[in-house]
Amino acid sequence: MARIPLDRANRTPLSEQIASHVQQLIDNGTMPSGSRLPSVRRASTMFGVSPGTIVDAYRVLQHRGRIQPRPQSGYFVRDHRVRPAEEPRPTRPRLRIHDVPHRLAERLHAHARADNMIALGMAQPDRSLMPVEALTRQLHRSMRDGPARTIDYGPTEGTAELRTEIARRMLDTGCLVRPDEIVITNGATEAMYLALKATTRPGDVVAVDSPTYHGILDILCALDLRALPISTCSIDGISVPDLERALQTRRVAALVLVASFTNPLGGCLSDHGRARVAALARTHHITVIEDDVYGDLAFDGCHPPAIRSFDDTGRVIYCASFTKTLAPGFRVGWCVPGPAGDEVRRLKRKMNVATGVPQQLAIARYLATGGYARHIRKVQRAYMERTGLMIDHVSVSFPEGTRISRPLGGSVIWIELPDRFDALRLFEDAEALGISIAPGPLFTPDDAYRNCVRLNCANPWTTQIASAVSRLGMLLKEQDDDHTTGRKRARRAPVHA
Ligand SMILES: Cc1ncc(COP(=O)(O)O)c(C=O)c1O
Repeated sequence: MARIPLDRANRTPLSEQIASHVQQLIDNGTMPSGSRLPSVRRASTMFGVSPGTIVDAYRVLQHRGRIQPRPQSGYFVRDHRVRPAEEPRPTRPRLRIHDVPHRLAERLHAHARADNMIALGMAQPDRSLMPVEALTRQLHRSMRDGPARTIDYGPTEGTAELRTEIARRMLDTGCLVRPDEIVITNGATEAMYLALKATTRPGDVVAVDSPTYHGILDILCALDLRALPISTCSIDGISVPDLERALQTRRVAALVLVASFTNPLGGCLSDHGRARVAALARTHHITVIEDDVYGDLAFDGCHPPAIRSFDDTGRVIYCASFTKTLAPGFRVGWCVPGPAGDEVRRLKRKMNVATGVPQQLAIARYLATGGYARHIRKVQRAYMERTGLMIDHVSVSFPEGTRISRPLGGSVIWIELPDRFDALRLFEDAEALGISIAPGPLFTPDDAYRNCVRLNCANPWTTQIASAVSRLGMLLKEQDDDHTTGRKRARRAPVHA
């Protein structure tokens, strides 16, 4: 097979050059919508590069909205009748330490539970995709184990069955973990809370990706910790060079980050970036708390390696849960606290003794049946399709100049509107129409991202959701008209308390 030449002296990375070659073939019609791209192995022979470089090139094309993977079938050219919107610009927060204010995420929680709201705000999984019957069956079976197991307090560290199943599943993250290294928690939220409480003191500074998941800010607030936002990109996640600069100039106790499919920006840190973060933890003596609730939801079916898999010092604490993949209401998560394990278990015992046993046993039994891998493939596929549909619809409904993230996993998108738009006003106006969205300022301790919005794409795509997105577009048009005519509208109650 003849090699397609690349300019190896050029500073443009080979993956970008390959992406440009393939994009030309798509643009000039050689590879029309729906056609299949060469397999990674074949393309690596065609271009004379490693398979990893091809995977990176295909990732670039996915972020540009040109191709999409179909698990176990390969990569295909997307239907590109809708011109793909650009990705949001990498964020550039000022290197400043912030106290974390209380915030009213309660309103989003209330929206998610209200029957009459179209809930695009909370990052909830689609209930109809969850294995409800199988979990119900396993719950019943677990209760038959008898009251000594299911009615009495369980062990603080969690049941042996679930810890064993999790240790097996964690092989997908590249981590070799013994069951006795795992502590079962009430969701990833408690895992991160315990990890931070065990390794920091009130007043300490914690670096976070910016924007970051609002629940992380709530934990910092509850523990009296201060936040240091670090710039983050919707493609590669947290900026490792900026993190390094921050660690050189500020006294930082810990870093909390979502490395795979950040919420809300959607980026995914490269393997090299993960190794660098693990190395920085060692050099700067900081604890890294890795929140991996979305790792199982990679659209290509490959769980990215955990940062912990690059760490040999015990400075990286891995946290995750079954919230996004099985049942948020079960409140089952876990952490691998390493040397902080004794303190984490002591704190958990003092706080709530143990996590509920019946749901732990039900999940352990469900995992042992082997149905989980098939289940998450179904969820990955559904979220990939729904995210694509949401992006296309936002692209045609929102004003010119709107930028939209195109994540390769998870279920949320981040929308950066031109600066003149006000996401808090959109939140209020949309709520009045029965539509819930998550405004940008929810994801930061300062007053940034007022022109940004996060939407959850997990729900099945319906005409109701399509028309809700169109209505959001109309509300933005109203804002634009007011802006042009200089008309001011009275602001209703602010989102922050
Ligand atoms: C990044 C991230 N971490 C943690 C959580 C919460 O996890 P849990 O419900 O398991 O506490 C969420 C929920 O939206 C999330 O998006």
